[in-house]
This record gives sequence, C-alpha cells and structure tokens, in this order.
Amino acid sequence: MGQPVLGIMTLYLNDNGLLEEKPIYQKMTIAGKKMGLDIYVFTPRDVNYKQNRINALMFDPVTKSWTRKWRSFPHMIFDRCRIQRSQRFVELGKFRKQYGHLTFLNHMLRNKWIIYRTMRKDPRFIPHLPLTKMYESPSDLTDMIRKYPLIYLKPINGTGGRGILRIQKQQGGIYLIQGRDQSRRIIHPQRVPLSELHGRLEGWNLKENHYLVQQGIQLKLPNGRVHDYRMLVQKNGSGLWEVTGCAGRIGASGSITSNLHGGGEAVTMQSLLKRFIKNDETVEAAKLQAEELSIQMAIFLEQTYGRLCELALDLAIDQKGHIWLLEVNPKPAREVFIQAGEKETYRRAIVRPLEYAIWLHEQKKRRKEKIQPLEEKIQPLEEKFPTPE
Ligand SMILES: Nc1ncnc2c1ncn2[C@@H]1O[C@H](COP(=O)(O)OP(=O)(O)O)[C@@H](O)[C@H]1O
Ligand SMILES: [Mg+2]
Repeated sequence: MGQPVLGIMTLYLNDNGLLEEKPIYQKMTIAGKKMGLDIYVFTPRDVNYKQNRINALMFDPVTKSWTRKWRSFPHMIFDRCRIQRSQRFVELGKFRKQYGHLTFLNHMLRNKWIIYRTMRKDPRFIPHLPLTKMYESPSDLTDMIRKYPLIYLKPINGTGGRGILRIQKQQGGIYLIQGRDQSRRIIHPQRVPLSELHGRLEGWNLKENHYLVQQGIQLKLPNGRVHDYRMLVQKNGSGLWEVTGCAGRIGASGSITSNLHGGGEAVTMQSLLKRFIKNDETVEAAKLQAEELSIQMAIFLEQTYGRLCELALDLAIDQKGHIWLLEVNPKPAREVFIQAGEKETYRRAIVRPLEYAIWLHEQKKRRKEKIQPLEEKIQPLEEKFPTPE
C-alpha cells in the first residue's frame, strides 16, 4: 500500500490563489515526512472531476518552496475549509457530495444554534451552556434582558468576534450597548433606556442576520478587560481524544470579545485563572473539570456528526469556577499557544492530527487484510464529573 497520503483540503481566500495557514501546512509536511506520512495541500478548485486527479500543492523541505504536481486522490482528507461567502464555498459542497465516501479525518459541524441545541440534548452539558435563544422578535431580547443582567447577541455563523454585541443592565434602568461590527471594528458604546434599546439595534437587522441572544457571563478582569479560554482537544496516535492544551485570552482594551484577531492577547491558563479566581482549590478544580468536560463534549459531537480529529472550545470560567461553553470551533488555529509562550503545546497541536491519520490508515489496512483492527470505538466515560446542583 506504500506510504499513507494525507490531503489537506482548504479553500482559496481570493481568485488569485491566496491560501491561509500555509506556514502551518509547511510545518505539517516536514513533520509528516519524518513520520512516514506524505502530505499535500489542495482545494476543491484543484480537482479534475473527470480524471479523479488533483493538481496538488506540495512543499519541498529541501528547496523550501511550494510546487504543483498532479496527484491521485489521497488515502485521507483533513478538512481545513472555513466558512466563506463565495462560489468557492459552493464548489466545496460539490466536492463533499461527490467524494463523501472518501476517508475524512473530520466532518463538518453546524452553526452555533444547531450546535447549542445538539449539546442541550445531553443533560451533562446543560448546566454548562449559557441559555441561548434564536432572535425572532424584539420580545426575545426583552425576555432575556429581564432574566439576565448581561446578554450577548451574536450571528449564528459569525467568526472571529465579528458582529457581536453586549448589552449590560446598569443602574436606573439604563442599558449599555457595546460591540464590534461586521468588520470587527469596535462600535461606540451607547447608554439607553429600555424604551430606546430596540430602536438603537434596528440597523443590526438581528432577525434577518440570524442572531442568537445569549446569557452573558461576567468575565471582566479587575482592569476591565474581558477574558476566556481556548481549549484544544485532539485525537492522538491511538485514536483517542486527549487535551492538547488550553490557553487564556484577554480582550483588547474596550473590546467585549477576547479573539486574538480583534487585538486579544494570549496567556497561560494557569496565570489567568489565578488572576480571576482567588481560591487555589477552585482554580485546580476548574482546570480539571474544563479538561474533562471538553473531552466529553468532543466524544458527544463526534457521535452526532461523524468522525472528528480536533476541536477548539471557547470556554468561559466564572469567578465561582463554573465552566461555560461559549463556542465550538471545528477548524481551530493553533497560534494561541505560540502567543502564550507554550511552544511544546504548539508543536503537539500540529503533529497530533498527523499521528491520528497514521493510526487511522493502519486501522484501514488491517481491515483490508482481514487482521482484527483495533476498533475505533466510542470512547468510554473515564470519570464522572460532578453533577450540577
Ligand atoms: N455569552 C457570553 N458571555 C461572555 N462573553 C461572551 C459570550 N459569548 C461570546 N463572548 C465573548 O465573545 C467572543 C466571541 O464569541 P464566540 O461565540 O466565540 O464567536 P466567534 O465565532 O465570533 O468567535 C468570545 O470569545 C468571548 O470573549
Ligand atoms: Mg470564538
């Protein structure tokens, strides 16, 4: 069967062939070579559907350059395609339809609303999900504001902190509106009475733009900046889910989101937990629970959506040490670890999907040769995490 071949599938960012994450794919190619895994990069646009050939992009570690070569289909596909509004995204749909039978390391997840509703089906996760509603009419917002002193409004398909609003109840029936527009620019904060709130939000077309209304978690540090955590869980070289690492993120000054692309800063989880939570035992317990919960969430999502190899969970940990799931990211960047100074975690984050690919290939080979494969079975619950009050 020769060397296993992994195709990293991505999308061009424009019509001139611009690709994101090329440096990561470069690192993956080099690491893959050492492990006996042949890696190339392609987009659905590079596929010749008639001849079943791919005009692949390959990195040559010797000349340190990218070249094109026609290749046959890979044994496995690592899907790194992120959502974009373009014809290229439509082409991705066509590729998935035609080649859905191939071996994918990971499958697509759905939008924030569907993921929320899916997660709520498992009672273990309910206490960790900020209450969320689809915005259908102004009364959805009013109902939530009556329940919670802080709420977040965010688009179901948003990314990178774009188009997110935060509404905080203040004294005297005044509401503070803050946020970022679709281009991620910080909007001018506004203070309005309830009677004016809906009017001020009219331009945001919350219904047409498919917004969620979500219970907000109080995450302001003493210096006024918001924070949260990026937990990366990945399958390892034995086909099992493992925590690769978790980093803290501190939002830019005046920002209501912590995303690094919005000027956020990455720090170690431990240092950030200690800054926000005074009790050391609470810190340790929160860390452990965040890890366990993330593994369980990954296992659950995989059961629902099909094979996955990695997920990054945006987690909030409040001052009592309670864990909240803000978002599930199926195509995570790894840079947060480098920025937090965690080089080894960064390295592992790049290598683990490759180790998993090799393991998966081995399983397929055994099945073909009718040797008992080490089944990729549903991972058991190792330890029960505390049930909610
Ligand atoms: N319910 C919430 N409570 C407090 N902060 C939130 C909440 N939802 C989102 N945020 C903040 O906004 C950021 C972006 O929200 P997220 O749901 O991850 O959307 P995106 O896809 O744009 O990253 C989070 O990382 C967090 O800093
Ligand atoms: Mg996010």
